[in-house]
Amino acid sequence: MTVLVAYATAKGSTRGIAERLGSSLEEFGQLVAVRPASDVSHLDSYDVIVLGSAIHGGQWLAEASDAVERLWSEFQGKQVWAFSVSSVGATSTTLSKRLARILSRVTPEPRAVQMLRRAADVRDHRFFAGAISPGDWPGFGRVVFTLMGGHYGDARDWTDVCSWAATIATLSDGVGKDGRRT
Ligand SMILES: Cc1cc2nc3c(=O)[nH]c(=O)nc-3n(C[C@H](O)[C@H](O)[C@H](O)COP(=O)(O)O)c2cc1C
Repeated sequence: MTVLVAYATAKGSTRGIAERLGSSLEEFGQLVAVRPASDVSHLDSYDVIVLGSAIHGGQWLAEASDAVERLWSEFQGKQVWAFSVSSVGATSTTLSKRLARILSRVTPEPRAVQMLRRAADVRDHRFFAGAISPGDWPGFGRVVFTLMGGHYGDARDWTDVCSWAATIATLSDGVGKDGRRT
């Protein structure tokens, strides 16, 4: 299988997750290309697309949502695995655990992912927590972050990232549990 891992990042933590997904998928025997979403001009040479973005204001960054629009016709029927990198991941968070539990229940999917579901065969959409430093927030954002029990640092859960890559390698059509084509 040839897999494209495309990403949009503002401060780099999403790129790190995309790169780790790529290297994990390679360990499963897949041919992998990891690219910024803004550099992707076609999808036809890939069997599986993994597309992810950092979250700002509840939404994917423009580079990722623009890619969904730009490549709309090529996404039709493609196997896609989507991921979002925010303050709250499925297994870790940069906020207080209590608030993270509430937010993960009430936060709607980013619009770009909802749109992607209308074109592609979206197998999963996973949230990962990213990294945040004080300088990343504008002044007011820093205050809100502190009020939300936020802590600065890197909350990426690499075990969860690698285990999601294993799920992609196992459940994508045409790939057996050992990563070989079935
Ligand atoms: C301007 C700004 C807006 C953000 N908005 C959100 C948000 O709406 N929800 C959220 O959970 N995290 C939000 N975050 C946190 C980022 O999603 C998180 O730090 C992520 O790791 C950033 O990924 P990156 O390092 O690839 O840019 C925001 C961060 C910044 C700097």
